Amino acid sequence: MARRASLATWALVLGVCVGACRCYFSIPMKIYTGRVNVSSVVDLVPVRRATSDAGGLSLASDPSGAVNFLDMVNNLEGDSGRGYYIEMSIGSPGQQLNILVDTGSSNFAVAAAPHPFITHYFNTALSSTYSSSSRTVAVKYTQGNWEGELGEDRVSIPQGPNGTIIINIAAILSSEGFFLPGVNWQGILGLAYPMLARPDSSVEPFFNSMVRQLGIPDIFSLQMCGAGLSASSTADPAGGSLILGGVEPTLYRGSIWYTPILEEWYYQVEVLKLEVGNQNLNLDCREYNKDKAIVDSGTTLLRLPVNVFSAVVEAITRSSLEFSSGFWDGTKLACWLKGETPWRFFPKLSIYLRATNSSQSFRVTILPQLYIQQIADVDGTLDCFRFGVSSSANGLVIGATVMEGFYVVFDRARKRLGFALSNCAVNAGASLSELAGPFSAADVAADCSGGSLREPLLWVISYALMALCAVILVALLLLLVLPCRRRDRSGEITDESSLVRHRIK
Ligand SMILES: *[C@@H]1O[C@H](CO)[C@@H](O)[C@H](O)[C@H]1NC(C)=O
Ligand SMILES: *[C@@H]1O[C@H](CO)[C@@H](O)[C@H](O)[C@H]1NC(C)=O
Ligand SMILES: *[C@@H]1O[C@H](CO)[C@@H](O)[C@H](O)[C@H]1NC(C)=O
Repeated sequence: MARRASLATWALVLGVCVGACRCYFSIPMKIYTGRVNVSSVVDLVPVRRATSDAGGLSLASDPSGAVNFLDMVNNLEGDSGRGYYIEMSIGSPGQQLNILVDTGSSNFAVAAAPHPFITHYFNTALSSTYSSSSRTVAVKYTQGNWEGELGEDRVSIPQGPNGTIIINIAAILSSEGFFLPGVNWQGILGLAYPMLARPDSSVEPFFNSMVRQLGIPDIFSLQMCGAGLSASSTADPAGGSLILGGVEPTLYRGSIWYTPILEEWYYQVEVLKLEVGNQNLNLDCREYNKDKAIVDSGTTLLRLPVNVFSAVVEAITRSSLEFSSGFWDGTKLACWLKGETPWRFFPKLSIYLRATNSSQSFRVTILPQLYIQQIADVDGTLDCFRFGVSSSANGLVIGATVMEGFYVVFDRARKRLGFALSNCAVNAGASLSELAGPFSAADVAADCSGGSLREPLLWVISYALMALCAVILVALLLLLVLPCRRRDRSGEITDESSLVRHRIK
């Protein structure tokens, strides 16, 4: 143990030295003479009618006639860094609020008291239809939490299905780290299943209420259009579409590939394989689903279990560039002279999901434009980028970084999630995502999600030591590199600073 500790000390000292030297060279990390014009903004291809065969499905399945999907197109604003939100009218008379769309939780909660970081809130006293239960409710995230009281009121969505519904509302009376500076929303719409609702699953989630009261099909779909836009730009929100009750064919091209929802709590799916470039990571497929693998619009990054994350970083490093570790762990940006682009130095990332035919899989692929994300205007002469993938201690999360490449269909009625190529994940005419299948699933286990992997004790000990070293190292590095980081005026480069970015539910 003592030997290990002294080794660790040396590693630490070495690390600090390397880190300190790196610091001077890290901005710009490298300068390449590229031809691609980074500063030109994404040019969205106009939506066009898809020729897909799957398109007719839910247009035809609207029994109530309350739904016109075209009216819901572009009903979202926002971006991956600060979340996508929809406008709602709450109470009588209606109070307009922006509500974050989150497929990783199940409460409908809105600010019901002033808070320094929000412009307005739902004033329950001004709503003649608000009824309060005396139950309190609290939700805690790794960063941030809120507390409030449960109540009921009438809600309508101007750019949603016609009609007013009565829903459970958690009126947020106090919070910490939940509302952050720069966000333009005042509440959260949890679209996952009752099992995640707080304080218990008897609190019917918003979408369950909507389906029951309006008679719309039990399906919604989500297109988030921030692909390739600066992660922290404040002007001109990217926006997107939340289609409640079905699938809108103008939002995607090609066919929709479906993967089963394994268990109805989060939208849990089964990941069979990961590829970096065309190279299979070749990990035991249970590593990819360790704890769980979910699709969550309320998480910014693609989050990977620690082992998988290390393997991905190693594979990217092997095939592309040498970067200081700060880039991979999200504490540093990589910068190039304005007008250059790093994307051609990075490989594609592919995730294989179990197809509805369980002996097959399909593959969702994101190009580096989606996971090497430009941060707006850090410095007048440089274009800086952050790594859109992070490590996770509680499962794999397919967050906005990946979802922005696809039109994602939450087909609850048939217990499956669909992926199709999004019409807005396009930059200068080229698609930023790919979708392919079917592939045989014969080379992976029949069940990649069952049973947690056991770590030998030694591994646990060495992980603990590594973690300790890392913590000390990061602390020291932060002290050392402070002069370098002064450029990051926006302060938006770390996981912590963004609202939905790091949330763990
Ligand atoms: C890069 O984009 C800017 C802004 O759109 C444009 O003015 C400039 O001409 C472009 N440069 C090249 C080389 O395409
Ligand atoms: C709501 O109803 C109006 C009038 O009947 C109709 O024009 C509109 O398309 C409907 N909106 C939606 C979202 O269905
Ligand atoms: C499922 O996939 C297997 C392997 O590709 C194929 O042989 C089988 O016919 C498929 N089953 C159905 C119902 O399509």
